[in-house]
Amino acid sequence: NGYISSLIRRGDLEGKMGQTLLLHNIENTLCDRVLLVGCGKERDFGPDQYKQVVAKAVQTLNDTGSMDAVFYLTELPVKQNDISQKIHHFVLATHEVLYQFNELKTTVDSARRPLRKIVIAVSNRRDLNLREQTLRESVAIAEGIHLCKDLANLPANICTPGYLADEAQKLDKIYTKLSVNIIDEEEMTKLKMGAFLSVSRGSREPAKLISLQYQGGPDKQKPIVLIGKGVTFDSGGISLKPGAAMDEMKYDMCGAASVIGTINAIAEMDLELNVIGLIPATENLPDGLASKPGDIVTSMSGKTIEILNTDAEGRLILCDTMTYSEKFKPEIVIDVATLTGACIVALGHHTTGLFSNHSPLAHDIENAGKHTSDKVWELPIWDEYQEQLKSNFADMANIGGRPAGSITAACFLSRFAKKFQWAHLDIAGVAWKSGSEKGATGRPVALLSQYLINKAKSSG
Ligand code: BES
Ligand code: MN
Ligand code: ZN
Repeated sequence: NGYISSLIRRGDLEGKMGQTLLLHNIENTLCDRVLLVGCGKERDFGPDQYKQVVAKAVQTLNDTGSMDAVFYLTELPVKQNDISQKIHHFVLATHEVLYQFNELKTTVDSARRPLRKIVIAVSNRRDLNLREQTLRESVAIAEGIHLCKDLANLPANICTPGYLADEAQKLDKIYTKLSVNIIDEEEMTKLKMGAFLSVSRGSREPAKLISLQYQGGPDKQKPIVLIGKGVTFDSGGISLKPGAAMDEMKYDMCGAASVIGTINAIAEMDLELNVIGLIPATENLPDGLASKPGDIVTSMSGKTIEILNTDAEGRLILCDTMTYSEKFKPEIVIDVATLTGACIVALGHHTTGLFSNHSPLAHDIENAGKHTSDKVWELPIWDEYQEQLKSNFADMANIGGRPAGSITAACFLSRFAKKFQWAHLDIAGVAWKSGSEKGATGRPVALLSQYLINKAKSSG
């Protein structure tokens, strides 16, 4: 009966971005409350604004004792987004704003009457099925992100390589199409993983190579391999890092966490695709047995590596895992790693660095990134850069000097990617937030999951 219009006319709600007005007991409605949320200017309303509005609404309801709610925000036009993206962003923003990591606190003040149930209204009944499918996918991705964040936020004294292996094995019990195997150091020695083992030598925690095999497609379909860097703590080793913010190096296993989260997501949605997750998990610590600058090791591929800086350990564990992946005859291998500080210098905290030896693969990843707003930007791995890895004493050095540090790291990996289409995601800048909001972001679980969903659709 014009009640809301009159409130707006009176100036109770201007409609500024994120402004809210909670109304009670409105006549002629069946609900206890109506929440109005400002969305800013219509022409500026893109995916970022949409996510902010959803988050604000969910947070407000959660704080005011509303236990269930129907949302009409999905009816708003969002620039460059279709309805399935709106559902995706809605679900992810909701989970994001409600996420807390309180496992290690003895007292927490949580909402007394938390928001428990959300209904998303869709205006068109005709494609309700399609939208429910998107909703299921989005919820599975949100759960994958949740798992990724939990693993990443755990401190390194709890989240050890062995802990990651146990967590992976738990998933094996839940999903019949998933089988998890753990390769220990003894077996790695037999496999001649000299590069990987040169990192774990400096730590008393036994390293693990975790393999999660998800068989959702036909037997003959070549798998996609996801490799996640799982350095559960990176002190730098003998090339010790400075002390400031060193605690954040517990996040050096975010690649691993995102691969586990993604496998969880696709298993949850019962995706029809063969995907294998491989996680080299280790600590990088200084010790009497630790690798020393100048040491030369032989990788599983047979190539020798001069370790000029023990802090460039990620590429050492990844290269042997890439060689190991050849046994699965993969069509595509994607590695995900908090690999270089230089990537933060290049792209900041918004964008994942993408490197690839196959441009259609890079394109597919870019598209999945755009769809989910989990964005990537491609950097070159041209031959000119390879020269920086020259060693006087071995086939290659493990560092390429200061210029283009992320690119030379990717160039190093590219030498172990000759047998498959390969992409490398450097997530050093995007995997976690520092400062008062310190915590894992769950990136790039959404990107990887969407990439695999798209893959399953095109190969099904
Ligand atoms: N895990 C680090 C990269 C990193 C640093 C990620 C800061 C996020 C924030 C990696 O193992 C590392 O130490 N890389 C070195 C490479 C260098 C020695 C060539 C780096 O970036 O300084
Ligand atoms: Mn390092
Ligand atoms: Zn590292």
